[in-house]
Amino acid sequence: MIQLTVIDRQGQTNELQLVEDEDVNLMETLKNHDYEMRATCGGLALCADCHCLILKGQEQLAEPQDDELMTLESRPDAQNNSRLACQLRVNQGLQGILLQLTNYSN
Ligand code: FES
Repeated sequence: MIQLTVIDRQGQTNELQLVEDEDVNLMETLKNHDYEMRATCGGLALCADCHCLILKGQEQLAEPQDDELMTLESRPDAQNNSRLACQLRVNQGLQGILLQLTNYSN
């Protein structure tokens, strides 16, 4: 099991336990756990609706690919610890991370 902590858009903090699955991304998983997730692009790293900040454990995650970096650059509120949840796999890299969902940019 993978255990992580999520702060939602209302500032509520919850711990989640996830079953590892490389075929699933974190955006879909959060949606399945009833997190409000607009995800206009459907997980293609285009809309940045799934923008989140990694407050703890950023170094554990796989490096972002170019398409993720390009989309993050379009967000005025992007920070050094910004990631797109749709580009994160549900694997051990998520173990123990603290993640905060951000408000939609438009
Ligand atoms: S769902 Fe669109 S960028 Fe992640």
